[in-house]
Amino acid sequence: YVPYSNFYVGAAVEIKNVSMITGVNVENVSYGLTNCAESTALFTVYSQGDRKEDIVAMAVVGKSDVTTGPCGACRQVMNELLPEKCVIYLSNLVGKTKEITMEELLPFAFGPSDL
Ligand code: THU
Repeated sequence: YVPYSNFYVGAAVEIKNVSMITGVNVENVSYGLTNCAESTALFTVYSQGDRKEDIVAMAVVGKSDVTTGPCGACRQVMNELLPEKCVIYLSNLVGKTKEITMEELLPFAFGPSDL
């Protein structure tokens, strides 16, 4: 649901035992209340009772010519909810795919072990 930006993003989280949980960006007229695809997907994973140890990989696909990097807020969410060594694929609809780690996406992250 992207009536304001017209920028479509989809995310998929692969769960052990071959299931896939997906999410999309859902915008809001207030803009700031928009939910990004990555957070939508990961919140659904956790809502269903799965946890980081159940996750194999995550993919983020933007309807764009370049590979979409997750926004800063999503990087923080991903850092907490994905397993440490999770494979993350960034892709688009014209076949470009980049494989990246959480460490590369958010170095020196503030995480649960810092509290
Ligand atoms: N968006 C995402 O869904 N994920 C990101 O990591 C980057 C931004 C969405 C939010 C908004 O609906 C649109 O892309 C433009 O910012």
